[in-house]
Amino acid sequence: MTYVFRSPGRINLIGEHTDYNGGYVLPAAIDKYTYLTFEESDHFESHTSDLGKSIKFSIDARKEKDTWANYVKGAIFHLTKYVKKPIRPFKIDISSTLPIGAGLSSSASLMVGIIYAISKIEKLDLDRERVAQIAHEAENEFVGVNCGIMDQYAVSLAKKDTFILIDALDGHYEYVSAMGFPRITIVDSAVKHELASGGYNTRRNECARASEIIGMQFREMTVDLVESKRKILGENVYKRAKHVVEENQRVLDTISAIKDKNWEKVGDLVKKSHESLKNLFEVSTDEIDFLVDRINTLENVYGARMIGGGFGGSIIVISKSDVGTHLKEISADYKRQFGIEMKYYPVKLSSGVRKITLS
Ligand code: GLA
Repeated sequence: MTYVFRSPGRINLIGEHTDYNGGYVLPAAIDKYTYLTFEESDHFESHTSDLGKSIKFSIDARKEKDTWANYVKGAIFHLTKYVKKPIRPFKIDISSTLPIGAGLSSSASLMVGIIYAISKIEKLDLDRERVAQIAHEAENEFVGVNCGIMDQYAVSLAKKDTFILIDALDGHYEYVSAMGFPRITIVDSAVKHELASGGYNTRRNECARASEIIGMQFREMTVDLVESKRKILGENVYKRAKHVVEENQRVLDTISAIKDKNWEKVGDLVKKSHESLKNLFEVSTDEIDFLVDRINTLENVYGARMIGGGFGGSIIVISKSDVGTHLKEISADYKRQFGIEMKYYPVKLSSGVRKITLS
């Protein structure tokens, strides 16, 4: 028997670096996918056509040399902890239309996809939250990336044409309709981000320190309180804390603006989020800032900002009309300035991981 599953990538409209601080995020799944084909077998084996690599493996705590293989193995290894019966071996073929390492959660897409697929094939009684939590645990503990819950929740729980407001403090979530929402275009800076590398974890530690010094959850803090603690926090920790407190509020303001269909306001909040990620959280790069600045001057653009962990990756562009022609020009200037070829494509908000039938 062969089973095919489709697992999306995600964008995040607003709420960056808030999830691991018990804050709000507003992601959505996009119509770029990881496709997983499962075939029953007498051993575990996986092949990725994107990387042109194959591996045979057993389900144990031992790490493989190839990072991608650890995503596959780690997902299954952690799933076994929550399942009473042994998991039958499969041959798993991976291919994707989702760019890898572009800040669109290709790793969560793969891990959630694998756990969801096995839970369906084996008729395990796991709901979508559970699937996301297991994938999150596996990415933290097996792969060693200390990410928050946003990506796994988005990939697992998303619905077509909706954003998901996630309260990362307790995992509560609600759907926010994106009916009538303007166009969304993704610009891939082609600057590879590497979450496992230092920057992300340093920011996490700085935030934890702020919360510890102030003695409160970020959600209970006001900007005035953070301002009053500037000296004892020290400049860097103060800046990180201010970003988190203001970004949480921006997520709530964005929800109101979406409900009012006030796209100018949504764009304004998106721009403010970028400014804060650049100046306070300091996770943007020269390449990303060049692109965001240029895009934000376009007449038909409501707002653009970096998405995801930062240090490269992608930009979300919210616009009234098609931005393709302008992006073509910006792309040429970007190439002249940095010698890098950026990519861009429109996206639609899609549904979470699911089984599909090939026609
Ligand atoms: C990465 C992580 C998420 C989140 C974002 C920043 O995408 O995987 O959990 O922390 O960075 O908002």
